[in-house]
Amino acid sequence: MALPIKDELEIIKENENIEIELLLNAIFMKFGYDFRNYGKAHIKRRILHRKMVSGMNSISEMTHKMLYDPLFYQEILQDLSITVTEMFRDPSFYLSLRSEIAPLLKTYPFLKIWHAGCATGEEVYSMAILLKEEGLLKRTQIYATDFNQLALQKARAGIYPIDRIKEFTQNYQKSGGKSSFSDYYNARYDSVILNESLRENVVFADHNLVTDSVFGEMNMIICRNVMIYFDKELQNKVIKLFHDSLVPGGFLCLGSKESLRFAESSPRFESTFDKEKIYRKKFTV
Ligand SMILES: C[S@@+](CC[C@H](N)C(=O)[O-])C[C@H]1O[C@@H](n2cnc3c(N)ncnc32)[C@H](O)[C@@H]1O
Repeated sequence: MALPIKDELEIIKENENIEIELLLNAIFMKFGYDFRNYGKAHIKRRILHRKMVSGMNSISEMTHKMLYDPLFYQEILQDLSITVTEMFRDPSFYLSLRSEIAPLLKTYPFLKIWHAGCATGEEVYSMAILLKEEGLLKRTQIYATDFNQLALQKARAGIYPIDRIKEFTQNYQKSGGKSSFSDYYNARYDSVILNESLRENVVFADHNLVTDSVFGEMNMIICRNVMIYFDKELQNKVIKLFHDSLVPGGFLCLGSKESLRFAESSPRFESTFDKEKIYRKKFTV
């Protein structure tokens, strides 16, 4: 029987997919970063973009260069890790935290909060400001993690371009901020430096959600706009990791486009504020 004839475009796409799989395997084997269960469309878009800007002829050529050129590997790693973020991103989420969750947190003697995939730290400082205004910061230990070393360096420094301050200030006000946002930073030339006191109880650390293990006994985990890049299987694995890292009754906060609705661990959580993607680990399963 004659095999169906594939058109040229189909063959190119098929070969591209094979080459992408080989590239991802090479990254995992050589550097230990595992992107094999990230969303295929996202990975393909980013790799084809790097191929275009670096003027390479094929993805296989990129794989070879990446294995022998550490700088090129770093470029690919940055491509595969989208670090777009902002302070008080989705202000209504922070408003709910402040008005609905903070009163409960005030009944706890000590709090542990994990920001997983904190990127350049804006989310972490937003939380520190909220906790400070609610009188909770001193009794809270915050763990802020990401697998992107460059992003973590920026997060530790807490220095942001001054031209983003207008947007951050508007978000802060919409999120129910109780003070003036300018109380929390000092401006220097074209940057602002966030107050040192905001990071006193923050530990910034390298942690890979795909390959590293649980962080114990958390009262709250914030992992927003990270799992959106994962396929279903990896999402299930990471949600289980979060379940295992939370105390019973602990909160899990996801991004606006993420949900637990179809996750395997979904029955182990209750939906506290569905609209803001705030879930709570059940006390008994
Ligand atoms: C779009 S940013 C989200 C930042 C912040 N959470 C927010 O919502 O604004 C996604 C972050 O997830 C991090 N990330 C992606 N995969 C990761 C993994 N496997 N382990 C840890 N962090 C990861 C990226 O490096 C990036 O900093």
